[in-house]
Order: sequence, then structure tokens, then C-alpha cells
Amino acid sequence: MCGIVGYIGQGPSSPVLVEGLSKLAYRGYDSSGIAFLDNGSITVQKAAGKLEKLTERLIIGGDEGIGIGHTRWATHGPATTENAHPHLSQHKQIVIVHNGIIENHLALKNELSWFGYDTYLSETDSEVVAHLIEHFYRSSHDLLEALHQAVEKMEGSYAIAALAADRPQEIVAVRKNSPLIIGLGEGENFLASDVPAILSRTRRVMYLNDDEYARLGREKVEIFARDLSPIDREVCQIDWDIKTAEKGGYDTFTLKEIHEQPRAIRETISHRIKQGRLSLELELLESMAPSLQRITIVACGTAYHAGLIGKTVIEELVGLPVQVEIASEFWSVARFLTPADLVIAVSQSGETIDTLQAIRLARRAGAKVLSILNVVGSTLARESDAVLYTWAGPEIGVASTKAYTTQLAAFFMLALSLSGSGQEAELLELADQVDQALATEETIRRIAREQAANEKIMFLGRGVDYYTALEASLKLKEISYINCLAMPAGELKHGTIALVEPGTWVVAFLTQSQTYDKMVSNLKEVRARGAKVLAITCLSGDSLADAADEIIHLPKTLEHYAPMVSIIPAQLLAYYIATERGLDVDQPRNLAKSVTVE
Ligand code: M6R
Repeated sequence: MCGIVGYIGQGPSSPVLVEGLSKLAYRGYDSSGIAFLDNGSITVQKAAGKLEKLTERLIIGGDEGIGIGHTRWATHGPATTENAHPHLSQHKQIVIVHNGIIENHLALKNELSWFGYDTYLSETDSEVVAHLIEHFYRSSHDLLEALHQAVEKMEGSYAIAALAADRPQEIVAVRKNSPLIIGLGEGENFLASDVPAILSRTRRVMYLNDDEYARLGREKVEIFARDLSPIDREVCQIDWDIKTAEKGGYDTFTLKEIHEQPRAIRETISHRIKQGRLSLELELLESMAPSLQRITIVACGTAYHAGLIGKTVIEELVGLPVQVEIASEFWSVARFLTPADLVIAVSQSGETIDTLQAIRLARRAGAKVLSILNVVGSTLARESDAVLYTWAGPEIGVASTKAYTTQLAAFFMLALSLSGSGQEAELLELADQVDQALATEETIRRIAREQAANEKIMFLGRGVDYYTALEASLKLKEISYINCLAMPAGELKHGTIALVEPGTWVVAFLTQSQTYDKMVSNLKEVRARGAKVLAITCLSGDSLADAADEIIHLPKTLEHYAPMVSIIPAQLLAYYIATERGLDVDQPRNLAKSVTVE
């Protein structure tokens, strides 16, 4: 969480920093700030609230072409101006921005108090970092060395950028478990948490790894290892277009991304099918496949739901047992892994710390890690044994939509590849079927208007449709703030049906013929207790007419592919209920796109 930017160049830094922060707002947006050097002193400007709160009061001037900025997702202390970054050191010689958590900040404060550092203006864990660097800088007068000494004392996770008031020639930075990239320009260089922040300025990028340091000057960038020995780092060329990270005529990123799904799915799949045959070119999979006894999938949130559907399709087509674990709970199962295990990690960002920690445990146990990822060059990509990329393009809206359906595409391809079941033609049809599902938009919009004020919403399904219900419910919760729930329909009568009363709205998924009749019975049960039912189905059956108030019909697919199509009306439903409620869909409260704290 939190976005960091840094700029060292010729003109004033504040416009560059603010532009960079606007592209990182998806990482956190409860407050923001910038700091720049101004005739040998540090000017800090910050504000609680979204970035506009900062820009509306920003004073530009006296800037020496060097600055750092930050957009925050609060961990320690509420979203106030005082707690916003950057943070100045006690004697105002150093200013820092920090992403992550300094776990031993209280012990560090205690230690620093012996040296007269006892003034803190914020409740954050980060402010102590500024004091600590200043403490070391005062004796060495070497900013990189001071950062290094400070880091040696820190426990936790961090991406840090720091400036000194009397060093207009450099920005120093370090990372551990929080991403940092460096953008290379002509006579100017950039630092950021993610590529979109710098893409309008340069496409030449270097990635910093954990425990590495960077020193940015105007003419050169140096990278150092943990012991400050210099490292040569390759320069990568970013080939995607900044336009793909803009709204392109849609009101919100989320709506644009929902509509991009046919393209994203098509690109994810079609590149891997040559002359009608699927070819993933994954050596790891080929070498492990003959002796594979089980697969473990690990992920968080929406990616976890994609994993649940991945489990179903792999079990069905390949006949291998698959377990799916929430990454933050993985520690309890990692001890059972052996070198014969394949762990599949799923992540849009490739920076989710819970997922990263899980694969580190898995690799320590000797297991091999295959990751399904959207972001090329992400930390997970670099720490995995093999990667299967989704081609969703940048996903900016906090609610994951196109990343999810392309993750499903990746799982379908993995299952096909392991089973050799030859269903490539049906796989290729999915993008068009998702397009047809998007044609339900106007109907869904009307239903959303009718239900926007309803606080009692329940999603039901059986088997794979229950997993879709989980994802549908998460979408609605995170952007509409409705306390809804998802249930396996058969489990309802074991307690939760007590919640059903007149006015309860039930959204049900029926895409599997094996469970269709039982679902119809369950829907009749809730209707008998006053619930209204919206059924979403790819199947045709007369009995549903008596069990639902409204039916959304979707194109028929192979049944194990159906979750890719049935989630579409649910995404639209969450979207339009949220907009009916007047909420900020792209940046819902309390959330951040990339979750880099445990
Ligand atoms: O970047 P990741 O896919 O690893 O992120 C995992 C979850 O944080 C993410 O899917 C989250 O649940 C989404 N915001 C939900 O829409």
C-alpha cells in the first residue's frame, strides 16, 4: 500500500511529483504530500483526503528540481494531515517517504531518545525513520551511508526514499517487501512504486530488488547491494501504452475495465493457441506433470476466488487433487509441502505481501512455484520458478474485474494443458460469450436502480457457482459497502435461512446442470419466506420460471468455463448499485489496489 514518487532533474519537481502521485492513487488515497528542496531547506506540503486536497492548496516555487512524494493508505494513525507523508526529521535536515510498516518503531524511538530525539509530530511508525537517518547523517554526512545504518536497525517492510536539505544532488532509496522502480530520463531520473507514475516521462526502467539501495542523481543512477557494494542492473523497456492506464471515455476505470474483458481474455488465450493447439511453453509444468500428485493454489481476495474455480476445473479435467489456501493463512499448511509439490500463486499486482510470503515458505519447503500474474517484472514474477502471464493490461480500479476473468482463462489453459482434453475451440469462444454477457448491462442497470437501497442481499450457488457467488459478494461489498453474504445454497437451511424475510434480495447462479434442480428447490425455499430472486443462468429449464422473480440468460458455454461468463452481470450489478449510491467506485473507502502490508 501507499505510493512513492521521487524526481531529480532540471525544472520544478512538484508538477512531476503530483502527476506521478495521481497515477499511484490506486495504492492508497487517504492523504498525500510532497517535499522538495528550496534554497537549502526542505519544504513539505501535505493534506488529508484525496490528491485534489493537496493540489488545490499546492504552492509551487523555489524548487531546486528535486523532490519526493507520497500517497497514503493509513496503517499507524488515522488519515490526518499530520500523519500524511513526507515526514521531516527533528532538526529538519532529512525528509522521508515510507511505504510498509516499521515493526520495531517503538524500540527505535526509545533508543533515539538517548540522543535527544523526542519530538514526533505524527502517530506514524514512519516518522522515526527520518529521525534515525538524521541521527546517522549528522556524523557521517553521507546520505546513502546514513540510510544504510538506519536500515540495519529497522525491522519490518519498507520502501523508503530520502532527501537531505544540503544535498540537492541526490535522492537515496531502499526497499524490502515493498516495490520500487527507477525511471531513466535525459538529465533527469525518477523513482516510483509502480510504472504508471513515470510512463508519461520515460519508458526506460530499472527494478530494485529486496534489500537493495539506489542513489539517483541527475546524470546517473547507482544500485547497491545490502552491503553497499555496487550492482549492475539491466534496463528494461516498457512496451505498454499510457493510454491503457487512462479512462478512455468511460466515467470510471472500473467500468472501462469491465468492458475491456473480451479483449483481455482474447489476448490471454489466443497468443497461446497455435494451429488450434494450446501451447503454454512452461517447462516447469512439463517436467513436473508426469509425477504430480497434488497442486496447492495460494492467493488473496478476488485472486483466491479465481483459485477456487481453478481448483474445480483442474480437478475435473486432470483428476488431480487441488487445495486452495488464503495466502495469509498459508503458514499453517506450508509445513506439509515437499519438493514434489507444485504451488500456484495467483496475483494481479504480483506485489501482494501475503502471497509473496506464502511462496517464500513454499520455496523454503522445496516446492516449485508457478505464478499466474498480470504485472510483468513484479516481485512475485522474479521470485517464482515459472510465470504464466495474463494479458489484462493495467488494472487501475481497486475492484478487480478483468484481472479476475483473465486469471480464470489462465486456469482453464493450465487444466487443458495438463489434461490434453482438446477443448481449445470452446476456450477461444469465451471472449465473444463474455461480450454477449456484457449486453445485459441495461437490464442490470435497471435492476440496480430498483435494489440500490436494499441492505439485505444474499448470493447463492452450488459448487463452482458458489465460488462465483463469493466473488459477486466481494465485488458488491467493496464498492457498495453493503453487508451482503454468499452461501452454498444447500447450506442455507442449516442456519442462515433465518435471515431471510420479506424484502431480502437473493441473487442466484445456475450454470451447472448437475446442481440445477437442487438450486431451483433452494430458491423456492427462500421465495416462500418472502425473498425476491434474481437468477443468473446459462442453462435453459422451465422450472426456474417458478423459482425466480427475474432471470438473466447468458450464452451457453462448456459448464466448467461458465464462471467466466456468469460473473459479468454480477460485476455490472455491483458497479451500478455503487454508482446509484453515489459512491467512488474506482477508489472505495479503506482499500488500496496493491496490498503490501501483512
Ligand atoms: O494483486 P493481487 O491480485 O494479489 O491482489 C489480491 C487482492 O488484494 C485483490 O484481488 C482484492 O481482493 C481486489 N481488490 C478485489 O476486487
